[in-house]
Amino acid sequence: MSFAATKFINEKTEELQKKISSTKKTLIATSGGVDSMTCAMLARKALGKNFTVLFLDDGLMREGESGEIRKYFDSIGLELQIWDVKEQFFAGLKGKIDPEEKRIAFRDIFYKTLGQAARSYSVDFLIQGTIAADIAETQKGIKTQHNVLSQIGLNPVHFGLKVVEPLRELYKHQVREVAKKLGLPTKFAERKPFPGPGLATRIIGEVVPERVDKIRAVTKIVESTITGAGIFQVLAVLMNDKATGMINGKRLYGDIIAIRAVESKDALTAAPSRIPWATLFKARDKILAEVPGVVKVVYDITPKPPSTIEYI
Ligand code: XMP
Repeated sequence: MSFAATKFINEKTEELQKKISSTKKTLIATSGGVDSMTCAMLARKALGKNFTVLFLDDGLMREGESGEIRKYFDSIGLELQIWDVKEQFFAGLKGKIDPEEKRIAFRDIFYKTLGQAARSYSVDFLIQGTIAADIAETQKGIKTQHNVLSQIGLNPVHFGLKVVEPLRELYKHQVREVAKKLGLPTKFAERKPFPGPGLATRIIGEVVPERVDKIRAVTKIVESTITGAGIFQVLAVLMNDKATGMINGKRLYGDIIAIRAVESKDALTAAPSRIPWATLFKARDKILAEVPGVVKVVYDITPKPPSTIEYI
């Protein structure tokens, strides 16, 4: 049965208007991903300009992220607030190797900084782009998704907030339909999923600025080279292990990059994409030519399950 996006939008608009009166202040933190951007579009329909959109620049985003988002919000007459919180995030992630420890650290800093923002804007409500898959993954105890508040024992009241999650019944493909119906440009509505903890999920081992810069450069290459209608998500991961290589005739114990591209409908299961060799070789060549220190590039052929899509 096809999903009734218009009906959903009308219901949620009414719900938001009922919940959030015009005297209340509302905050949406956007990462530029389709979920939070759709929340912003819904809020715009329901609340006009009576809300604040915030981009927390945590230093873990892809290249050029905040500029593109700001440009779009400017074009629809909404002012994007940008907070530089890189130092807090790198300090909190320092020395963390274990994947769950990294996720928990990210989550804690995220809500701490978001709480600071909420207090500084004196907001009453936080609209959050949690979707059904986030809830399912956290319920199964697979990994700590950064955005499922109620299930992680985190009380938003401690942060002085009421949380509203208008997309919590939807899966990604349904969110995209809603986004397009709300007029969000295709480049945002069709954007591939990118996890909240950003490039921290693309690094095995410690998350430090130099390693983030490296995987940011690789991410730009794989995202621009490996494209195709059937691909749900394409990503690259910096391994913690090293491998022996040869650069300009000299031995180098260098970095290993794994590329992963998957097909999926709802992110709950996924199959590796059958990327043409020529495309993979193009990505490999660019990585080796443009990202110093990389000596190996591998392609991941594992389905989910047993693998998850991300590496941490
Ligand atoms: P996994 O790795 O669990 O990922 O197979 C399923 C989907 O969720 C994304 N993902 C996240 N999204 N916060 C998010 O907003 C997170 O903490 C998070 N972890 C994973 C992942 O990119 C994939 O699309």
